[in-house]
Amino acid sequence: MKVLVLNGPNLNMLGLREPELYGKGTYADLETFVSETASRLGIEVEMRQTNHEGTLVDWIQQSRGVFDAIVLNAAAYTHTSVAVLDALKAVKARCVEVHLTDPKTREEFRHVSYVGMVAEKTFAGLGFGSYSAALEYLAG
Ligand code: DQA
Repeated sequence: MKVLVLNGPNLNMLGLREPELYGKGTYADLETFVSETASRLGIEVEMRQTNHEGTLVDWIQQSRGVFDAIVLNAAAYTHTSVAVLDALKAVKARCVEVHLTDPKTREEFRHVSYVGMVAEKTFAGLGFGSYSAALEYLAG
């Protein structure tokens, strides 16, 4: 199984960014965590991060026929991006939504998830553990 793990805006700032919410682990730490989890589960993973909505759309489109599933933390675009939703629909991507925090327990503007409208499962509020839960779900 080949999984594309996509991360949206500001996740490159992990460690510095609101550590009381997102923790002290850096994006590099998350990369290590995801790659170790993938090795343990015997799945192939590629992980990318972008601050640009169009780049996320491009990567989702290009995943078609290359990856079996997408694990997606679209970050703020989760709550705003019809373009990301349409891209997921266009390629009929198998998608698992992840978040470090639980947006449903935060500000009201985070309660809407366009990604969640097509994701087959969501893992949120588990820190890095949301990513391992998503990979375990896909591997299982
Ligand atoms: C986030 C939650 C989003 O609401 C926020 O905009 C992020 C990160 C998370 O992983 O908890 O940037 O996706």
